[in-house]
Amino acid sequence: MWNKIITCRMQESDITQALGIWQEQYERYCSSDEAYPDYWKSNTGELEEFLRSKVQDATAIVAKLDKAVIGFMAYDLFPFNGENSVFCPPTAHAAVEEYKQEAYLSLYKSVSKEWVDRDIFNHMWIINYNDLKLRVILYDLGFGSYLVDGFTCPNIEINCTSGYQIRKAELQDLEILYSLVEESRQYYSSAPIFLKRDLYSTDDISKVIRNSNVFIAFDGSKAIGLINLSVSKENDIINLSVSNSGQIDELGAYIKPEFRGKGLGKELLKSVFDFCNSQGIKSIHVDFETANLFANKFWKKYFNPMLLSVRRTINKNIND
Ligand SMILES: CC(C)(COP(=O)(O)OP(=O)(O)OC[C@H]1O[C@@H](n2cnc3c(N)ncnc32)[C@H](O)[C@@H]1OP(=O)(O)O)[C@@H](O)C(=O)NCCC(=O)NCCS
Repeated sequence: MWNKIITCRMQESDITQALGIWQEQYERYCSSDEAYPDYWKSNTGELEEFLRSKVQDATAIVAKLDKAVIGFMAYDLFPFNGENSVFCPPTAHAAVEEYKQEAYLSLYKSVSKEWVDRDIFNHMWIINYNDLKLRVILYDLGFGSYLVDGFTCPNIEINCTSGYQIRKAELQDLEILYSLVEESRQYYSSAPIFLKRDLYSTDDISKVIRNSNVFIAFDGSKAIGLINLSVSKENDIINLSVSNSGQIDELGAYIKPEFRGKGLGKELLKSVFDFCNSQGIKSIHVDFETANLFANKFWKKYFNPMLLSVRRTINKNIND
């Protein structure tokens, strides 16, 4: 059967079959979760448009068996931390369950040759977190976990009484917020995360205060933690969140080391849930690095992991 699978560029005429396979995969791995937007199950307009653009750019391929599409993969090129990289979002791949292994391996073999021939050594891919079969296939190819996208409904109950004061940030909090954000940047660059985050200027932070909802925790007059929630204005085909959902993004959440593990994170999250409930927001999205030892434990208590970003780096001397 292996040698009967062919891979070739996706054509417009393959899109309908590809979308059908994607929807089946979405139904299988994502539909059981109440917090995960079911919008994508029946609204395929954006996905179709996305695949059409990939056909035009020649950045999509299909695997076929007896002329039927059994899998597809599309990708974006982007500079990740200054390195030429490819990125395959969750909307950009799927395979029929019966031939999953054969289809994905044929697709990756074919497309990774093109990438490496062009000196693109960093390969990133977002898959369904619950697709354990695909996780094993990719693990054996050398991919490892990088980022998790989690979703939750704000109506779950959180019991906490840390005793610290929490309030929404105003422009007068600019300076204290700036120093907390700068401290968090040091945290992300430390072991074992090693994530270089962009420097925020005071202007950037004042924009965040104005455009989203930053909650700050105080011990007396000392700011000791923050959480930031924005409200999305559109659907997002990269993390599959939908318009008018909550996004814990940009500044994220950060608590000073000596105040961690005392229920404050939970209490800041409760402020976010209360806000969402008061605004009729039904779903909240967060993403976090799996190498972030705090985040990887904390968010999983209240959010269901739905997407997993995996990454493979190829030996840089292969084309020497
Ligand atoms: C992640 C963070 C915001 C969590 O806040 P926190 O005040 O430490 O967490 P809490 O004390 O409120 O813990 C809430 C729950 O998560 C669990 N938890 C939190 N950190 C944990 C850890 N490192 N290991 C195991 N469980 C953990 C707690 O046991 C608690 O569970 P419970 O409700 O059953 O009691 C905080 O630790 C932090 O700022 N870490 C560094 C920055 C960071 O990683 N931010 C997130 C970026 S995405």
